[in-house]
Amino acid sequence: MSDKQSNEIKRPVVLITGGSSGIGLALAEQFAQHGYDLVLVARNCRKLEQAADLLRDNFQCTVIPLSLDLTAEDALDDLIGELHTRDIELDVLVNNAGLGDYGPFHRSDQDRITAMLRLNIIALTALTRRFLPVMISRGKGRILNVASVVAFFAGGSNWASYVASKHYVLAFTRGLRSELAGTGVSITALCPGPASTEFVDSSGVGASRVYHWLPKTSLSAVASTGYRATMAGRTSATPGLLNKLFAFLGELPPRGIAQAVFAFLSRGSKAVTTNRKVTR
Ligand SMILES: NC(=O)c1ccc[n+]([C@@H]2O[C@H](COP(=O)([O-])OP(=O)(O)OC[C@H]3O[C@@H](n4cnc5c(N)ncnc54)[C@H](OP(=O)(O)O)[C@@H]3O)[C@@H](O)[C@H]2O)c1
Repeated sequence: MSDKQSNEIKRPVVLITGGSSGIGLALAEQFAQHGYDLVLVARNCRKLEQAADLLRDNFQCTVIPLSLDLTAEDALDDLIGELHTRDIELDVLVNNAGLGDYGPFHRSDQDRITAMLRLNIIALTALTRRFLPVMISRGKGRILNVASVVAFFAGGSNWASYVASKHYVLAFTRGLRSELAGTGVSITALCPGPASTEFVDSSGVGASRVYHWLPKTSLSAVASTGYRATMAGRTSATPGLLNKLFAFLGELPPRGIAQAVFAFLSRGSKAVTTNRKVTR
């Protein structure tokens, strides 16, 4: 095995779920650039290997790709087993993997909704629960949860379950943040607006006015905001001025006004068509 392909961890370690593409891969690049070795978790082996090769070539870091479906019953035990076998302790956990679903809820696919809630909420919560005790006992560690700018809204029509799942991620992060005060462990929510990734098509969110009207943030800008906020131990971070304003609107009292504006923005945009199949 060449040095480049060595699986030996020599530097601080970050585990990134969904690190094989989009925002997760951009975060992996940020951490690698700042001297971290990486554990990447996603389902598709080929994409994982491609991402790992790219990161090793560009940053001379160690990358361990783990192919796991985080919605599966045994995924967490399998992941802990893999880390244990390799004697890896995490310095940073990034809960990034997420699914979306856009369209009228009554016509949504129940299996997809279940998988989305398992990934966006259950897996993120369970991973945090599993890694926090060790971080607290070591007196150091950082967790980054990838939410969304829509997390600042208490509800969103046409993507009610997705928005609620991201609202959970933000609320969970804020709650834990106070609980972790004085432990040496920080927790941060990254709340990006629209960014061009596979998620936009796979979730159908590209058909919303939010995605049509808010400018796209580059993946490198999303990732560098996330990295800096994590290292600074901030509670949340939203890249881009318009996204920040949008986030601010979501929390303005009275919340009914923000909800009405968001309901308007959550409608389908006539300028965008989507080929996504909707089950009845
Ligand atoms: N793109 C945006 O506009 C945007 C805006 C705000 C927030 N976000 C959030 O950003 C996060 C990343 O999304 P993205 O835009 O980068 O999408 P993406 O390019 O589709 O990436 C999703 C990643 O998650 C992995 N993944 C999906 N299901 C998984 C599962 N069951 N188990 C393990 N890994 C799984 C995917 O790999 P496999 O398919 O191989 O498993 C992939 O690596 C999500 O939480 C999303 O909600 C995105």
